[in-house]
Amino acid sequence: MFVHVLGSAAGGGFPQWNCNCRNCKRLRDGTLNGKARTQSSITVSSNGVDWVLFNASPDIRQQLASFPPLQPGRAVRDTGICAVVLVDAQIDHTTGLVVLREHTEPWNVYCTRAVQEDLTTGYPLFNILSHFQGVNWHEVPIDERSFTVPKANGLRFTAVPLKSEAPPYSPHRHNTVPGNNIGMRLEDTESGKNLFYAPGLGELEPHVRRYMEAADCILVDGTVWTDNELSREGISDKRAQDMGHLNQSGKGGMIDILQSLNCPRKIVIHINNTNPILDEDSQEHAELVNAGIQIAYDGMDITL
Ligand code: MLT
Ligand code: MN
Ligand code: ZN
Repeated sequence: MFVHVLGSAAGGGFPQWNCNCRNCKRLRDGTLNGKARTQSSITVSSNGVDWVLFNASPDIRQQLASFPPLQPGRAVRDTGICAVVLVDAQIDHTTGLVVLREHTEPWNVYCTRAVQEDLTTGYPLFNILSHFQGVNWHEVPIDERSFTVPKANGLRFTAVPLKSEAPPYSPHRHNTVPGNNIGMRLEDTESGKNLFYAPGLGELEPHVRRYMEAADCILVDGTVWTDNELSREGISDKRAQDMGHLNQSGKGGMIDILQSLNCPRKIVIHINNTNPILDEDSQEHAELVNAGIQIAYDGMDITL
C-alpha cells in the first residue's frame, strides 16, 4: 500500500494568504526554517495506478501537478483518481471537488450520511456538481463495517466515528451527530498492514484508541500545539477544541496520547499555520521529534 501526502496543512495552508502570524510572516520573508504546505489531503493505492483520494482540497490543482501518478496518461481525458473519500464536510477537505468538475463521468464519492447531508444543504457542493457530471454518492457506514472501492483492489477501509465538530455551515454545528467526523483505517488486504488516518480529532475515545493501537502507522490531527493558539496570535478567540481539534502539548494532549501507544510509526498531519512545530528550529519541533513523532510534509510517501 502506497500512501502519498498531497497536503499536510490545515485549512488556509501555509503560509495563509492573509496571515501575518509569526510563522507565515517568516516563511514569506525567508527567515523560517520550514516548508510551505498545501491543504489537507492524502491519496492511497495498492497497485500504483488506481488511487483513492482522501479529501479533495482547494489546492488539488497544485497537488495533482506535484504527483504524476494522478495525472492523465491513458486517454484524452483521464485521471489516476478512481474515487474520493471524505472524512468530513469542511471546506479544506471538499472544495477540490469543484476544481475536479471537468471529470468525464460522475465522481464516486464515499462519505457518511451526515457529510452527504451537509454537502446538499449548508454547503451544497453535490447540488452544484449535479450540473456537471454529478456525484455517485456511496454511503460510508459508521458502525465500523469495512467497505471496498471498485478498482482499488487490495485495499479495505473502515470508518470510525470521532468526537470532533461539524463545520460552521452544517445543520449539526454544536449538535454534532455520529458521522460528521470520521477517522479511517486503510488496510492492505495482502500484507495485512494498516494505517489509521484522522486529520480532525477532538477527543480520544476508547474505540479510537483501539484502532490506533492496532495500526502500523498513525496519521493524526496535528492542527495546533496549544488550545488557545489562535487567540494568542491575536487571530480569533476560537479555541481549537471549539473546532474539534485536540492540542498536542500538555497533559492529555496528542503527544501524551501518542507516547502511550505502541504503534511503530506516528505522524501528525493537518497542521495549522500558527503551530510552532512548523519552525524546524523551534523547541516544540524538537519536543515532538524527541517523542518519536514525525511531522507530515507535502510529498511524504508512506509504504506499508
Ligand atoms: C478545521 O479543520 O477546523 C477547518 O477545516 C478549518 C477551516 O478550514 O475553516
Ligand atoms: Mn480542516
Ligand atoms: Zn499564519
